Amino acid sequence: MRYTLIPNSPQACTLIAAFVCSLAISCDKPSDKTAPASYEHAAVVTAHPEASAVGLQILKDGGNAVDAAVAVQFALAVVYPNAGNIGGGGFMVYRSAKGEFASLDFREAAPGAATTDMYLDEAGNPIVDLSLRGQLASGVPGSVDGMVKAHDRYGLLDWVTLLRPAIRLAQEGFALTEMQAGELNRRKENFEKYNPEGTAFVKATAWQAGDTLVQPELAHTLALISQHGRAGFYEGETADRIVEEMDNGNGIISYEDLKNYEAKWREPVVSTYRGYRVASMPPPSSGGIALISMLKSVEDYPLSQWGFQRDSTMRVMIEAERRVYADRATHLGDPDYYDVPREMLIDSAYNAERMRNMNFRHASFSSDIYAGELPKMEREETTHFSIVDENGNAVAITTTINGSYGSQVVVAGAGFLLNNEMDDFSVKPGAPNMFGLTGGEANAIVPGKRMLSSMTPTILEKNGQLFMVVGTPGGSTIMTSVFQTILNVVDFGMDMQEAVSAPRFHHQWLPDEVAVEKEAVSKPVRHALTTTGYQLVHRQAIGRVDAILVLPDGTLQGGADPRGDDVAVGY
Ligand code: DON
Repeated sequence: MRYTLIPNSPQACTLIAAFVCSLAISCDKPSDKTAPASYEHAAVVTAHPEASAVGLQILKDGGNAVDAAVAVQFALAVVYPNAGNIGGGGFMVYRSAKGEFASLDFREAAPGAATTDMYLDEAGNPIVDLSLRGQLASGVPGSVDGMVKAHDRYGLLDWVTLLRPAIRLAQEGFALTEMQAGELNRRKENFEKYNPEGTAFVKATAWQAGDTLVQPELAHTLALISQHGRAGFYEGETADRIVEEMDNGNGIISYEDLKNYEAKWREPVVSTYRGYRVASMPPPSSGGIALISMLKSVEDYPLSQWGFQRDSTMRVMIEAERRVYADRATHLGDPDYYDVPREMLIDSAYNAERMRNMNFRHASFSSDIYAGELPKMEREETTHFSIVDENGNAVAITTTINGSYGSQVVVAGAGFLLNNEMDDFSVKPGAPNMFGLTGGEANAIVPGKRMLSSMTPTILEKNGQLFMVVGTPGGSTIMTSVFQTILNVVDFGMDMQEAVSAPRFHHQWLPDEVAVEKEAVSKPVRHALTTTGYQLVHRQAIGRVDAILVLPDGTLQGGADPRGDDVAVGY
């Protein structure tokens, strides 16, 4: 067996025990989330059982990983409306079976009428909720153009075939999971406030698990996209509905903004960690650079010897996170508007040097940590899915409308939620956004500019072969969750499901505290950390990682996060 037991790690012992009694199954059945579901040919892991089933069917019908991803993105817009979307944006990292990498930025953009201080009051302070709720919170959506561009370049099946499952799910409805019914009930007041004309998400009595959610207006919009491609969204009837919706409130997205929106192919950020090749999303996501910086920062330390979530391991990881998030706040932003020192931030020597002042006897103070200096000569709710097809093409997509159900505004007559992604800009230098992240000039609002993201769709190679496809939602915790999942496999020998299920922790420089899931720290480690200056705060589920690992014999192992309704399927 290629996985080794970490003898001094109590958590690993329980996880390995779970692994031993649950060896791989190879069938269409969803994973039970304790076993690493294994598949011979192809795998799809998404946040919703219906979306996973759609991706699997497309693959079985002869589609490739990109076809499946396009169909899943549209299916998630129907069955996972809190984050799946056509009114938001995201990022895709792709690796072809031949080993070529590509990345696609379909991040939302600031509308043409946006201004740097648009969310500030007369005294220059952020107005509560203005960048989070209502029509003004939305950036110009990117998802539809993203899917069009991904399909144009790589798709095998025709566009109409890929839209069909989503249209059916919207027209005929699908059964709500218990988690979804609860979420819709909790948001009822908000939906009523921002959508006085009513939406499919609100009904007179409380939603129950198993109730059917039917979305006829969304089905109509999806049919327009199916018939007219990008013009079905950015022009014509849907554009009319979006602009009318802006006028229902304080929104500023114009016909021109919609018509001009373009998803962009970008050069993925690529580096190595312990001999594995890591390819991830470049700016305007901070995800790839931050992930690689964290990996570089810990590479010189014997983590596997120390063990999973032992105190030395955690100290090194937390100190790396602290320093990398300080850099993020200063140096990262949309590269079309800000000169991001990309090479410096992922450089091994730079990151090793940043770690030199860490001290194993005491926590660093975030107030003493600043962003690295440039060389004198011369920046809650998302969902991730991972797909590998029969030929070995791989897709990692993270997509979002930012907060759960975005701006809460459903475009009247068109049936889809608009994002509240404008909050990801730094609305005022140093003022924290909804994830507590701060920023400055690099991420200031400029018309047309894309707000800095943390999304980290990532693909790893080992010896030139596909090794892992990984990503997660979780706002500012995205990079640290992907970071931990990679270390769980590479340094701590876990299988894919163990690595995804393992408890997580998170530090983001400011606030100067370590957020920990309930079982993330044993009593002795907690004691060791808290008596040496680390402030631990309890946090509910961190992230929902959906990932696929390729074993040396080519078997695909799915890891679906038990923190949600996520499901791995394959064949
Ligand atoms: O792009 C970003 O980094 C955020 N808008 C992501 C939001 C998110 O992950 C919320 N999910 N839980």
